[in-house]
Amino acid sequence: MTDLSNKPVDELTEPEADAELARLARAIAEADIAYHQNDAPEITDADYDAMRRRNDAIEEAFPHLVREDSPSLSVGAPPAEGFAKVRHAVPMLSLAKAYTDEDVVDFITRGRRFFERDKDLDIAFTAEPKIDGLSASLLYENGVFVRGATRGDGAVGEDITANLRTIKDIPEKLKGSGWPASIEIRGEVYMTYAEFQALKARSAASGGQDYVNPRNTAAGSLRQKDASVTASRNLKFFAYAWGATTEDPAPTQYDAVQKFAEWGFQVTPLMVRARSVDELIAQYRLIEEQRSSLGYDIDGVVYKVDQLELQRRWGFVTGEPRWAVAHKFPAEQASTVVKRIDIQVGRTGTLAPVARLEPVTVGGVVVENVTLHNEDYIKGFDSNGMPIREGVDIRIGDTVVIQRAGDVIPQIVRVVLEKRPSDAVPYEFPHECPVCGSPATREINEKTGKEDSRRRCTGELICPAQAVEGLRHFVSRGALDIEGLGAENIELFFSKGLVRTAADIFTLHERRPAVQQALAERREEQARLREAASGKTRKNVRSVEDRNFEGLDKLFKAIDDRREPELDRFIFALGIRHIGETTAAVLARTFSTMEELIRVGKETAGAEDPKAVFPSVDGIGGTVIEALTDFFGNERNDDVLDRLLEQVHPKPYIVNVSADSVVAGKTVVFTGSLEKMSRSEAKAMAERLGAKVAGSVSAQTDILVAGPGAGSKLKKAEELGVEVISEDAWFERVGK
Ligand code: IVH
Repeated sequence: MTDLSNKPVDELTEPEADAELARLARAIAEADIAYHQNDAPEITDADYDAMRRRNDAIEEAFPHLVREDSPSLSVGAPPAEGFAKVRHAVPMLSLAKAYTDEDVVDFITRGRRFFERDKDLDIAFTAEPKIDGLSASLLYENGVFVRGATRGDGAVGEDITANLRTIKDIPEKLKGSGWPASIEIRGEVYMTYAEFQALKARSAASGGQDYVNPRNTAAGSLRQKDASVTASRNLKFFAYAWGATTEDPAPTQYDAVQKFAEWGFQVTPLMVRARSVDELIAQYRLIEEQRSSLGYDIDGVVYKVDQLELQRRWGFVTGEPRWAVAHKFPAEQASTVVKRIDIQVGRTGTLAPVARLEPVTVGGVVVENVTLHNEDYIKGFDSNGMPIREGVDIRIGDTVVIQRAGDVIPQIVRVVLEKRPSDAVPYEFPHECPVCGSPATREINEKTGKEDSRRRCTGELICPAQAVEGLRHFVSRGALDIEGLGAENIELFFSKGLVRTAADIFTLHERRPAVQQALAERREEQARLREAASGKTRKNVRSVEDRNFEGLDKLFKAIDDRREPELDRFIFALGIRHIGETTAAVLARTFSTMEELIRVGKETAGAEDPKAVFPSVDGIGGTVIEALTDFFGNERNDDVLDRLLEQVHPKPYIVNVSADSVVAGKTVVFTGSLEKMSRSEAKAMAERLGAKVAGSVSAQTDILVAGPGAGSKLKKAEELGVEVISEDAWFERVGK
């Protein structure tokens, strides 16, 4: 074959472009493996970049030729070691793509033409969402899950059985009957937005690592060596296909998937059987409409020939079934320019870069800022060191493509290198905190030996940014939850010197005139801005100020009401690194009083081997002990904490496991909406009474407390004969 590698992209014919894309996919994959797995790059970075750029340029010129294994779509090479390899008896295929309605018409026409001779044939198709996750193949022998593997390169994947076993949607044993003696169920592992956001929030609250999007996070979660980490990520699974099997699950695709549901799998509720292009496209539009409310990412609709007999007759081309196609959603993308990169400093001192963009409308929303996550992300790598955006860095002045796909959070998907200004320079991430000037460093994670992806200001309390964020955290909902003292007021009081540390909040009433003045000045300022914007003059200033006075009384009362917080909330409010709500509750339960926690904390901090001194407690590991040691060993915190404890008296955490608590030792689950208390309050109360609170219903559950709107948990409890009571009945029982 002639060497095409030097032929200019605009001179390539379609078959040549196709061949080039295949060559580049192979070469880039090889280079990735050499670089990431063998740590032995075989080509220079410049050659590598050139290959990626050529790949992108060809894909741009021939979008319909983009390959399933295109380097531009890759989420990074698989890990070097750790998981055993699994050869798929039936390869895990990719799908041909359709971008327009015409492409779909072509697909159907190709099918009809292929079966032309078969005059009475009634070809049916299925249409279902294309889930944006990771595919997995689950082997069931005699109805029992025995092995699960990733797709890998389609031919060989990795054995991630232990991790897949933690996914609730993957049954250990198939339900019902009639399943083949041996079958590989295939489908998609994915993460919901809710879970992704919760993980991000948990991680941010405890100063942990950063997560870029649900798909990469799901991929990372599946690659964990420690399955309990995977378990904590609450991944989900939809079954939609199968591999090697001793018999067909059903005669048609549609019925096979219905069988999967009978056997205990989750299947998409959005799958239909259709007989015409119009019906397929109608389902595509319907799914597209529902896309934003599904709660997880999908990136298109998959059409498949329904009858398995016809699937077999139509067959395969290299790596793809002829009988299926993925109709992709147009990405909601737009290009704009990075004007500036700002660094924001968070509560735990994390330096968070934000790109300020030339405003641009994407998917109906104006986007002006987009998070750049961290230093590595700007350079073009994710937190595992895998290339993202083809490994291209982001520079000030760059033209970038912004995407707001199913997820609402906009992100930069690509840098348009052709438009990079000739004088653009790589962004230099600051090594000093932009707010307080203290050194900003990247810590080494003790467990992995790897550098944390985030750079952190070491200024702690002398850093105003950390102090403000710490105060905002202190009054936030899961912490002391002081109504009326939102982020805006905290910033105002801090900037006016009225509140410096948490203790000052409780003496704020002593500075009433100054507080009043600060609030009034802000109102004035805001009114001035509004006037300037609207051109109207102001009336009725007095009434605004009157409201201000009332508001102040309320605020001081709200503060006063929080002088005796629950111990777990108080510990969480301190904002100690790695101590989220759950860990704070464990500490409260363990030490009962703040005095005891301080005593043990200090003793541990003073010890040579902290881990030997700190009592062994379930749920408290080395990272938390180290964080506690840092906190209690830091003299600057002593003074702050002493002053705070003069004002605030956390309630001792009393565990009443006495026999008179009728729920002591019982396992309780709360579901539905509770009306008298929040879920976390309900949990804390039950635990105080010696009950164990579980998240899901099982044979071990003793009581399900069900509020309005209870769904699957209620059903399950009824099936298992678990006692179900209302919220009122619960209060009666525990005598509150
Ligand atoms: S069917 C023989 N159905 O898309 C056909 N794939 O582009 C095998 N995917 O690797 C795939 N949702 O990870 C199929 N409803 C769906 C899908 C789906 C997502 C993914 C899957 C596969 C890739 C192929």
